[in-house]
Amino acid sequence: MSIAEELYLEALADYVLQDHSQNKMPDPGLTERFSSVSVTDIVELHRVSTRRIAEGKPEDQALRIYDASLRFLTDFLAHCNKSVYAAPSSLVLLKNKYENVLQHMDSGIALFNESGRLTFINMNMARLIGLPRKALIGFRLIDVMRNRMVPRKIRKSMLHLYREMVDYRTPYHEITTGQGRHLLVTVTYENELDGDVLISVKDVTEYKRIEQAAYQNDKLAILGKISAAIAHEIRNPLTSIRGFVQFLKPELTRMGKHEYADIILDEIDRANSIIHEFLNSSKPTAPLKKPVLVHAFIKDVMLLFESDALLHQCRIEVGPIDQTLTVAVDLKQVKQVLMNIVKNAVEAVAQSRGPEGRIQILAVHEAPWIKITVSDNGDGMDADTASRLFDPFFTTKEAGTGLGLSVSYRIIKNHGGKIDVRSRPAQGTTFSICLPE
Ligand SMILES: Nc1ncnc2c1ncn2[C@@H]1O[C@H](COP(=O)(O)OP(=O)(O)OP(=O)(O)O)[C@@H](O)[C@H]1O
Ligand SMILES: [Mg+2]
Repeated sequence: MSIAEELYLEALADYVLQDHSQNKMPDPGLTERFSSVSVTDIVELHRVSTRRIAEGKPEDQALRIYDASLRFLTDFLAHCNKSVYAAPSSLVLLKNKYENVLQHMDSGIALFNESGRLTFINMNMARLIGLPRKALIGFRLIDVMRNRMVPRKIRKSMLHLYREMVDYRTPYHEITTGQGRHLLVTVTYENELDGDVLISVKDVTEYKRIEQAAYQNDKLAILGKISAAIAHEIRNPLTSIRGFVQFLKPELTRMGKHEYADIILDEIDRANSIIHEFLNSSKPTAPLKKPVLVHAFIKDVMLLFESDALLHQCRIEVGPIDQTLTVAVDLKQVKQVLMNIVKNAVEAVAQSRGPEGRIQILAVHEAPWIKITVSDNGDGMDADTASRLFDPFFTTKEAGTGLGLSVSYRIIKNHGGKIDVRSRPAQGTTFSICLPE
């Protein structure tokens, strides 16, 4: 590298790595050195120097460097009394600028020309396909779909997308990856692009999550209304039945059947208390929060499951939990959440693990949350089940009502907390309940 070239690199690096507002004009001494150099050579030197500076930098910084470098070049040429349009290569450079922007976008982008050949693909799209960009440019979509280097799963979804979007001309389509991410694929056709076809892929997992949460809330509000109506309809006849049974009790006692009356009354009371419990938790009431010791209420819940665990031969392990850890909650409601989750865990391990079944309950302070986790080594669940878990009445069990988790979700939400689930089929599931500290 000549001294002039080195000085150029240094000045450019100085300029592009500066804060935008402090960009210095090129030094007149330096521009003088280049007065006899052709624009084409300066542009080439600029290209090499920019690449050296941007090399190894994170994407967003590299994009800023390219952007600033163009400003430097225009200024520099103006100071050398040369026009940026004096050389055709400077136009190429400008085009490169836009290519750079597309390269660094967070969506995947691919452009096919009229004859169906890939003319542009950005890094994100190449990453999604699983091949380097160079191995894809110039090929037709059908070649890419036939390329054995592209993972089979990706080729299959490309074929599916092709049918949907090219054969049936649907302008956008959503796919879910093996890792549970949601991708929105859009195709823009001919007219707008002089016959080219633009395909873009955007990761919409976060939007989806927000959308699902909103949908979930709607459903829970409906559930609240339905349950209030059911309670009204069931409680009233129960009250009259109870009254009449009490009225008939002396008659039954005289017939030597007083235990029948007792059983009927007990069962009616039980039905009433189930309705009462259910309504209490599904009504969107504000929880009555009081500080409680975390380890103590977990222990209370465990006691209720002792016989269940024994019956299913699974082991429930608790802790170690900081004995001083407290959280302000509506104890009755949060106990119900924990019971629902532990009950599901017992059911999951009982079904698949038998005596190998393990359930572990932990609680930690992870600011700003008190986090309680329940992990089991049961069958886990697939992505579809995991996405519908908190839906009211969603169940995969023969005798399940599918209300346990939707009610739990509502309770924790009313506490200002959140429930997360991580699950892997055949390996197990972990539920985390986060409550504000
Ligand atoms: N620990 C777990 N392991 C595997 N699947 C689970 C687990 N917890 C929940 N599930 C899945 O989530 C579904 C919904 O659970 P939820 O507790 O809401 O209803 P349920 O258990 O089916 O019925 P119930 O109303 O009696 O609780 C279950 O049917 C099951 O498929
Ligand atoms: Mg359940």
